[in-house]
Amino acid sequence: MVKHKEMIKIIGTGSYLPERILTNADLEKMVDTSDEWIVTRTGIKERHIAATNEASSDLAVKAARKAIEKAKIKPEDIDLIIVATVTPDMFFPSTACLVQTQLGIKNAAAFDVSAACTGFIYALSIAKQYLETGTSKLALVIAAETLSRITDWQDRNTCVLFGDGAGAAVLKKEEGDSGLLAFYLGADGQYGDLLNMPAGGSRMPATEDTVKQRMHFLKMSGNAIFKVAVQSMIKSSQEVLKKSGLKCEDVNLVIPHQANIRIIEAMAKRVGIPMERVFLNIQKCGNMSSATTAVGLDEAYREGRIKKGNIVELVAFGGGFTWGGCIMRW
Ligand code: ACO
Repeated sequence: MVKHKEMIKIIGTGSYLPERILTNADLEKMVDTSDEWIVTRTGIKERHIAATNEASSDLAVKAARKAIEKAKIKPEDIDLIIVATVTPDMFFPSTACLVQTQLGIKNAAAFDVSAACTGFIYALSIAKQYLETGTSKLALVIAAETLSRITDWQDRNTCVLFGDGAGAAVLKKEEGDSGLLAFYLGADGQYGDLLNMPAGGSRMPATEDTVKQRMHFLKMSGNAIFKVAVQSMIKSSQEVLKKSGLKCEDVNLVIPHQANIRIIEAMAKRVGIPMERVFLNIQKCGNMSSATTAVGLDEAYREGRIKKGNIVELVAFGGGFTWGGCIMRW
C-alpha cells in the first residue's frame, strides 16, 4: 500500500478585534501628537481597544470559537491549547487554562508561550512538534493581546503604537502537500532592556512606589530597536525561505509583524518581495504583538488573498528580542 505524505496543517482560522476603535484624532486629544506624525512615522491610523470587562482570554475565546467553527471540529476533541501572549489575564493560571474552561474542553494540555511579537510563530512551531510526534492529535494555537492594559496613556512615544486583538488556528496532521513547511526562530536577551515592562514580576514586585513611577507600563526605546528590527525581519525571512528550499518569488503572500510600515517596507525591499504580496493591517490595528500575524493570517484568508496551494510566509520580531519566520503551503 502506498503511504502518502503527512503534514501538519492549519485546518481553520479565526480572529477577533474588540469593538471600540481609537483613532489618531482621539489620541491628539490625549497626548501631544498628530495624525500626520503617527501616519508618516508608523502607518497606523486607528487601533482596537478591549472593553473594560474584556481580558486577553475573552478575546482568545472569541477568536478560537471562529477557528473551531471553520475547522468543523468538536471542541472536546482538542487535546492541546497553546496561547501566545505577553498580556495574560494574570500570572497564573495560564491564559490557556482559562480559555480551556471557557471553551468547555476537558482533555487537553494547556500552557502559555511568552515570546512577545514572535509568539504566534513560536507557538505554531511547538504545536507542530506535538502533532508530528503524535503526543497530540488536534491543537488550538491562539495569540491574544490586550496591550492597552500595559500601555502608558501619558507616554506619546508608545501609546500611539499598540492595539488589542486575538487570532487563532486549529492544527492537525493530514495527508497531502499542504501544511507547515519550515520554521526559523531566534532570540537575543541582551536587548531585553530596550523593550520591557519593568515592574510586577519577581525582580521588582508591585509596590506603591512602582505604581507611582509608572513601572507597570510597557517601556520601549523605539529608535534603538528600529535598526535591529529591520535586520532581524530580513534575516528571519531569508533564513526561513532557505530552510523551506523555496525562493522569494515562490511566496504568494507575506504576513509580517506590523510594528511600523517602514520596517515592513524595508524588509520587503531587501528580501525581494513586492509590497503587493505583503499583507497589511497596521493602518487599522496598530501593533498587536503576537496577535498581529495570527489576525493577519485569518483576515488574509477571509479576504481571499490566500488560496489553496499558495505559499504563505509569517515573519515577526519583538521584545526579548525574539524573531522568527514560518513558511506554509495552504
Ligand atoms: N507624536 C509626536 N511626536 C513624537 C511622538 C508622537 N506620538 N512620539 C515620539 N515623538 C517625537 C520624539 O519625541 C522625537 O522628538 P525629538 O526629535 O524632538 O526628540 C521625534 O518624534 C522622533 O522620535 P523617534 O523615537 O526618533 O522616532 P522614530 O522615527 O524612531 O519613530 C517609532 C518611533 C515609531 C517607535 C520607531 O522607532 C519604531 O517603530 N521602532 C521599532 C519598534 C519595534 O519594532 N518594536 C518591537 C516590536 S513591539 C513588541 O514587541 C511589543
